[in-house]
Amino acid sequence: MSLTETQALIAPHGGRLVDRTGPRPDGVERLEQIPLTSREVSDLEMLASGALSPLDGFMGRNDYERVVEEMRLERGLPWALPVCLAVDLPPQGEEVTLTDESGHALAVLEVDEVFEYDKEREAERCFRTTDEAHPGVTRLYQQKPLYLSGRVTVFERLPTLFPKLALDPLDTRRTFDERGWRRVVGFQTRNPIHRAHEYLTKGALETVDGLLIHPLIGDTKSDDVPAATRVECYRVLVENYYPADRVVVSAFPAAMRYAGPREAIWHAICRKNYGCSHFIVGRDHAGVGDYYGTYDAQLIFDDFEPHELEIEPMFFEHAFFCRVCGQMATPKTCPHGGDDHVFLSGTKVRELLAAGELPPAEFSRPEVAKVLIDAYR
Ligand code: ADX
Repeated sequence: MSLTETQALIAPHGGRLVDRTGPRPDGVERLEQIPLTSREVSDLEMLASGALSPLDGFMGRNDYERVVEEMRLERGLPWALPVCLAVDLPPQGEEVTLTDESGHALAVLEVDEVFEYDKEREAERCFRTTDEAHPGVTRLYQQKPLYLSGRVTVFERLPTLFPKLALDPLDTRRTFDERGWRRVVGFQTRNPIHRAHEYLTKGALETVDGLLIHPLIGDTKSDDVPAATRVECYRVLVENYYPADRVVVSAFPAAMRYAGPREAIWHAICRKNYGCSHFIVGRDHAGVGDYYGTYDAQLIFDDFEPHELEIEPMFFEHAFFCRVCGQMATPKTCPHGGDDHVFLSGTKVRELLAAGELPPAEFSRPEVAKVLIDAYR
């Protein structure tokens, strides 16, 4: 029995882990070359590795329509966000070469369909807003006007900036299996891990076998902390405060969409492909500004039948440090008032760092604060 068929870990979404890697075919340089945006390159990476199973290429019209309208693929399987490739014109041939932004060839796409799409409708349905100031909507409105669909074969994987963190779904599954883990909780983050994040991840870990800290390393907003700095924060934090035999840190190659609730579902499904049976969803998951309610990304899980996603969300309320309790807590576990609570927003932390001040110990571990302040100097 192959690893992907092992009964012990949760099955990939749709039942089988997709592998869209393959050898470089002859003559790719003679095919029409289609340059991908960095977001599309991230999606291509994930199509290659099976992180987007059961997808084996960029979505066709029927999948796209049903995903946008009903959060399902054509065949009925839950799926929350489009994974599409935008182009200016229909290609001439039956195959095209997909390149990165600099024209370097990465993959071949077997042309299936070219179709028009309505950007405003996609924005309204997927982002719950058509406001051009929303970073996901900004990107969508800048996209080319047609979607090109088709199966991909990726012959060149991206060089990774973080080789130790470059684990494909097959690798994380193998690691979990070797460690004898069955119940594994995944943690998505685009930030340095502060005390609140630590509280959620450790609270979740108490009830499962292992924790996958899975920071997103694709495109983020320019004011988010750069991935290289964050990776150093994860290293010092895990080294000093987590048990090594219960934690795996690995990179999630996706780009942020900032689609809040729908992205929480999408993040969960991807982590299921990496072998996670559970997934943490805290306050305003994948949110930006005040486009989403604090717990919208938790409520959206009710749109699916119980256990339909198979991966189980683990919900957490807004966590803070309570000076009276002398520990981390949430409104669920702490009776004290706001004046006793230390909560800093990401923006506030960036302001402190820019002024050369360390975030307080109630907010960040000193080792993490040091990495951040060194990076901001
Ligand atoms: S996200 O865009 O990746 O969601 P972030 O890295 O801030 O942003 O959050 C990672 C996860 O931790 C998300 O599930 C988010 O809901 C949760 N989270 C972040 N901060 C808190 C907090 N103070 N209390 C509860 N959950 C939180």
